[in-house]
Amino acid sequence: MQLTTTTTTALWTALLSAASVAAHGHVTNIVINGVYYEGFDIDVFPYEDDPPVVVGWTTPNTGNGYIPPSEYAEPNIICHENATNAKGYAVVGAGDKINIQWTAWPDSHHGPVLDYLANCGDDCSTVDKTTLEFFRIDGVGLVNDTDVPGYWGDDELIDNDSSWLVEIPPELAAGNYVLRHEIIALHSAEELDGAQNYPQCFNLKVTGTGTLSPTGTLGTELYQSTDPGLYIDIYSTLTTYEMPGPTLISGAVSVSQSSSSITSYGNATTADDSSATAAAAATTAAAAVSTTAAAVAAADTAAADTSAAAAASVVSITAAPTTFVTATVASTSAAAPASSSAAGDDGDDGDDGDDSDCDDGDDDDDDDDDDDDDDDDSGDSSADSYVASSTAAAAVAATTPAPTTAAVAGSSSSSDTQSMYGQCGGVNWSGATACASGASCYSYNAYYYQCIATS
Ligand SMILES: *[C@@H]1O[C@H](CO)[C@@H](O)[C@H](O)[C@H]1NC(C)=O
Ligand SMILES: *[C@@H]1O[C@H](CO)[C@@H](O)[C@H](O)[C@H]1NC(C)=O
Ligand SMILES: *[C@@H]1O[C@H](CO)[C@@H](O)[C@H](O)[C@H]1NC(C)=O
Ligand SMILES: *[C@@H]1O[C@H](CO)[C@@H](O)[C@H](O)[C@H]1NC(C)=O
Ligand SMILES: *[C@@H]1O[C@H](CO)[C@@H](O)[C@H](O)[C@H]1NC(C)=O
Repeated sequence: MQLTTTTTTALWTALLSAASVAAHGHVTNIVINGVYYEGFDIDVFPYEDDPPVVVGWTTPNTGNGYIPPSEYAEPNIICHENATNAKGYAVVGAGDKINIQWTAWPDSHHGPVLDYLANCGDDCSTVDKTTLEFFRIDGVGLVNDTDVPGYWGDDELIDNDSSWLVEIPPELAAGNYVLRHEIIALHSAEELDGAQNYPQCFNLKVTGTGTLSPTGTLGTELYQSTDPGLYIDIYSTLTTYEMPGPTLISGAVSVSQSSSSITSYGNATTADDSSATAAAAATTAAAAVSTTAAAVAAADTAAADTSAAAAASVVSITAAPTTFVTATVASTSAAAPASSSAAGDDGDDGDDGDDSDCDDGDDDDDDDDDDDDDDDDSGDSSADSYVASSTAAAAVAATTPAPTTAAVAGSSSSSDTQSMYGQCGGVNWSGATACASGASCYSYNAYYYQCIATS
């Protein structure tokens, strides 16, 4: 491709700013009515012998890579590269909202955010992903193009603490579902096959009395590389943006974005839990999520106070866990991701969504010829034609339940030190707060601190 001088300058500018941004992102956790559920931690779990059961699907995508359009007909587009089923699930009531927390998302990677569900029948932990039929329950594309390349769904996500709020359709039939959440970055999409898809999947058990049971589309049939919403130059002024993929189902509710406060820490439920012993546990979990009672602001405040005290000797890495842990892995000479440096990138060749193509390296190729174009902006955005988020500004705070008994029970092992990756603090934690040699206690949030290798 040909670069003009101004474009080249813009590239260097983009490169320099990219240097301060961590690689592309992934979802660290979801929050349902205040209950925090850990996702698949790609910075830690791939290096563990026996990683915990979580609600997020497993993917060895340690480089935070993407799936290119050349793989739209391949299984990788379903739940990310080589993804395998999550072994646990979270219980959620139809009509409840789920907040999906990403690591810091790069500013330059503008594009839509979409959410789909697919019914898995008996068990999402074993279902064949290639049979799942997804229907779309949410989506925000171009919000406005006042300042080219525009303000997009991902910009709302960034502005809401790198998180995304999605509502389970209130009339959805109860059952087991895979939630497929996705950001599509369009910063290189002016070239065919230049879009970057970042799907992330989670297992849910939806409760409720509704009967809505929409038909869906196989993951491998959601998109075509030539879809107008995927092959598009966002650096020219857009008067319209057509969301890619199937249309929104009727019965979907798009909510205004906001982040969710965390009031307790929950573990994934497993099929075993729910069949044998845990009629009780399931009941508790269901009660936890279906609560719509007003939040206990006072409890929150008390919790915050407690953890503030506890946090004195704790380093908060809320803002940038990715960076820290990556460094840690390297320094312990475990199988560190080989691709974490921004080596020359071949983002063009599109047929591998593999890590090394992804890390900020994208910025040093032909993409991101953005900034210069900003001046072309004519500002006539005709916002009506965009698929913007709508209505229903139900504030999360209003539906935050009281902390449940399923919260952080102190495991109260009274050993002096916690082992690597064990919990070391958080509200009501009564176990060890010191970490074994070589590890330090880090605060992920007020409810969960974990021993991580000291860098
Ligand atoms: C995914 O699987 C393919 C085929 O086995 C392999 O070549 C590729 O390296 C895997 N990707 C990751 C990120 O492990
Ligand atoms: C476009 O979105 C940005 C970010 O929300 C906002 O600051 C700006 O006012 C919006 N412009 C219009 C015309 O709506
Ligand atoms: C979150 O996103 C909404 C759009 O849904 C926006 O109006 C709001 O300003 C964002 N929140 C923050 C803190 O920017
Ligand atoms: C912490 O303990 C207090 C007192 O027992 C209790 O009221 C509160 O709900 C607990 N918080 C959590 C998050 O479990
Ligand atoms: C969650 O799992 C961890 C690790 O297995 C365990 O220590 C903790 O007690 C569990 N918490 C709850 C609320 O079940």
